Amino acid sequence: MPNQRYAAIDQGTTGTRVIVFSEDGTHHSPAAIAHKQITPDSGWVEHDPMEILGNIRLCLSDCNVVDAIGLAHQGESIVAWDAQSGLPLYNAIVWQDQRTESVIRQLKEDGAEAMVREKTGLPLDTYFSASKMGWIMRNVPDAKKLARNGRLRLGTMDAFFLFHLCGTHATDYNSASRTSLFNIRTLQWDDALCRLFGVPIEALPAVKDNIGYFGDVTLAGKTVPLTACIVDQFAGTYGHGCRSPGQMKITFGTGAFLQSITGNAVPDAANSGLLPTLCWKLPGEEPVYGLDGGVYNAASAINWARKIGLFTDIEDFSDFPNQPAIARGLAFVPALSGLGCPYWDRSAAGLWAGLSLETERKDMLQSILEGIAVRSAEVINAMDKVQPIGDSITVDGGLSSNRYFKQFLSDLIQKHIVSPVNREMTAQGVALLAQKGLGNHDAFKINGNHEVITPQRNDLQPFYTRYLDIISRSRNLRA
Ligand code: G3P
Repeated sequence: MPNQRYAAIDQGTTGTRVIVFSEDGTHHSPAAIAHKQITPDSGWVEHDPMEILGNIRLCLSDCNVVDAIGLAHQGESIVAWDAQSGLPLYNAIVWQDQRTESVIRQLKEDGAEAMVREKTGLPLDTYFSASKMGWIMRNVPDAKKLARNGRLRLGTMDAFFLFHLCGTHATDYNSASRTSLFNIRTLQWDDALCRLFGVPIEALPAVKDNIGYFGDVTLAGKTVPLTACIVDQFAGTYGHGCRSPGQMKITFGTGAFLQSITGNAVPDAANSGLLPTLCWKLPGEEPVYGLDGGVYNAASAINWARKIGLFTDIEDFSDFPNQPAIARGLAFVPALSGLGCPYWDRSAAGLWAGLSLETERKDMLQSILEGIAVRSAEVINAMDKVQPIGDSITVDGGLSSNRYFKQFLSDLIQKHIVSPVNREMTAQGVALLAQKGLGNHDAFKINGNHEVITPQRNDLQPFYTRYLDIISRSRNLRA
């Protein structure tokens, strides 16, 4: 077989890119396009699905001939659309959106959480898709009408893109498992969960293996099969080479996301705050399960600091004094959208503790990095208790290129941080899956070089303990 090429669509929270991987190891990134973040109300986050679809098409149009396409997408974000026109009924409601907080609170008060956790592995939280779909059903008049006519389509963003690119109403096991509507034990949409959230089960897509034939995409008059679909974080896990129990990675993107592989049975998270999740299912094989832990705010905290004018140049996040900000009493809790793992508490708010007349802008930037590292360390430590990590953890994403951040994290968790030179783990993962989905062996030449950060100091434990106390004070602060 000649050198085959795979186009990896990496459709993330802030932008879309397509990277083409060749089996001989070369890859190039023809384009990356940001899309609008629409925030009509406090805590609401929306995207225009047609804008993103246009961006995907534009990125793909830059690709030369490829043999297969893989789609990695932003996870729990959802769209509702009309099967006849293909048009969305409302903007996509993004995973970060918290408009359904009162619905979630009520469901908790009604005692629904145990059932939801048992079936899906997920806590009741606005993060997941179900309550957002329920919101559409209650608030978008056309949704009910189209449901009655059998024309309503509801799904995570992948389903909308697959509908338009391949003409199919489908999703994959991993994406379905992030909705709170999919039973990760029976591997089916769950009637009782759909009723609980007010989602018509008939509007949901067919659930398929993560690889295989999803349909053809027309590129410059030629059809190319789309052979893989998966949530971006799990594409990253695959891209890092995690295949067997105990292997894991953490990605520092909009949030910080840790995923491990546990095996072919739904894992027991043992009150760790980590979430049992379905990582992927390949044809003819048992599903691969794992544990998942997310920190809602990582790059989003940095972007917020830029937005309010704390810095303009990302280089400002370097050249910090050797002494951490927390050693000078300054701590930042990046709970700007609440606290994710292991708390799952949306009542928490961002917090700066220890400000004084001496505090400088640079100290504040340093403490933002430290706060993200401490929250990540909490998730890593929670994982270590349930599934021992060993002496190193592999990382990727934007913040994995910040030396201070990596060193501080390494010192906090007393483990080596392995940082691959190739930072495109999401795209690499979905390209490998697309390759396998085409019936080939999932391997192409990969630059396996990486940098290893080694713990330099072991005196941060008292600061970590103090930080945990400050984090506890960020709870119940949201107005
Ligand atoms: O769960 C949300 C996550 O998949 C989003 O990742 O990289 O698109 O911000 P990212």
